[in-house]
Amino acid sequence: MSGPLLRNRWFVGSVGGTFLLLVFSVFVGFVWLPSAQDDSLFKGLLNSICSAAGVPRSWLGEASAPVTSPVKVSEVVMTPTTLDEPSSGGGVGRGATLALRCTMCHGLRGVSTSQTPTLAGQYASSLYKELRDFQSGARASAVMAPLVAELHDQDLRDLSAYYASLPRQQSPATQDLQSAPDIVATGAPMRNIPPCGSCHGRLTAKLGVPWLDPQPRDYLKTQLEAFAHGTRRNDTSAQMRNIARNMTTEEIDASVDYYSGTR
Ligand code: HEC
Ligand code: HEC
Repeated sequence: MSGPLLRNRWFVGSVGGTFLLLVFSVFVGFVWLPSAQDDSLFKGLLNSICSAAGVPRSWLGEASAPVTSPVKVSEVVMTPTTLDEPSSGGGVGRGATLALRCTMCHGLRGVSTSQTPTLAGQYASSLYKELRDFQSGARASAVMAPLVAELHDQDLRDLSAYYASLPRQQSPATQDLQSAPDIVATGAPMRNIPPCGSCHGRLTAKLGVPWLDPQPRDYLKTQLEAFAHGTRRNDTSAQMRNIARNMTTEEIDASVDYYSGTR
């Protein structure tokens, strides 16, 4: 039966040719190309051949450690219930005692008179997130880091509750939305900048977004520049970094003048 087929020159030629081509390409793909790689990852011919065939590295017992980021990012996940835990004997009163070490910079009742941020009446969720980020190093500050290093989670919650309970002193300038500069009122849609007010506004208190008025002008400006240069990177999903790096210097000045009430 095979006799007549093998005597057919066309059959032998085409099947034989295909077979030779297969052998040749297997040689090129699995032996020649892999062995031509002098990458340190491909140690030995067998290893190279397995890599070429797509065998996962862990099968070869060489699983490498997962890549860790050289920079710290925020580990805080804010949910509406993050601060709900009943505090055991803590709360505002305990926070007030702990806050005695904060007054020299943040003011007697949380209202700053220098260029440190005002804390009085800030949302507890924001205060808590920032304190956690200072502690983990996600928000770098040579001043704040040593002050929170030894504090327990309950301390941070009580401090946040205390400062959130103090009266906020809004500047009259930001009560008047008509006077808001364009970047605050409408953003810059062509550059992907939403209006600042859509997150920082008085009508929309978004979880983990601090209010900005009234904060000292220099403080706000430093923070915006830090976001723009990526030296502050504790904002979840890079929300503020993406905004700040698309802002012009004029827009940064206009927005900080507005929010600090220094116009
Ligand atoms: C030696 C001065 C100093 C002391 C004392 C101090 N802080 Fe601060 N704090 C700062 C400075 C400066 C910043 C701004 C850091 C930056 O530029 O990122 C800051 C930032 C903060 C912020 C972030 C505010 C925001 O709007 O993002 C919080 C919250 C805070 N401090 C809470 C506290 C608490 C609570 C204490 C007491 C345990 C304290 N601080 C003690 C100087 C101080
Ligand atoms: C998409 C929402 C969103 C918009 C829009 C937005 N921000 Fe923010 N902003 C945030 C969040 C979230 C944070 C807090 C980041 C963190 O976790 O520390 C923040 C923080 C800031 C801070 C630091 C405040 C502090 O006390 O630490 C400044 C300054 C600021 N924003 C300015 C602006 C300005 C100016 C605009 C308008 C050009 C703007 N933001 C628009 C979400 C937003």
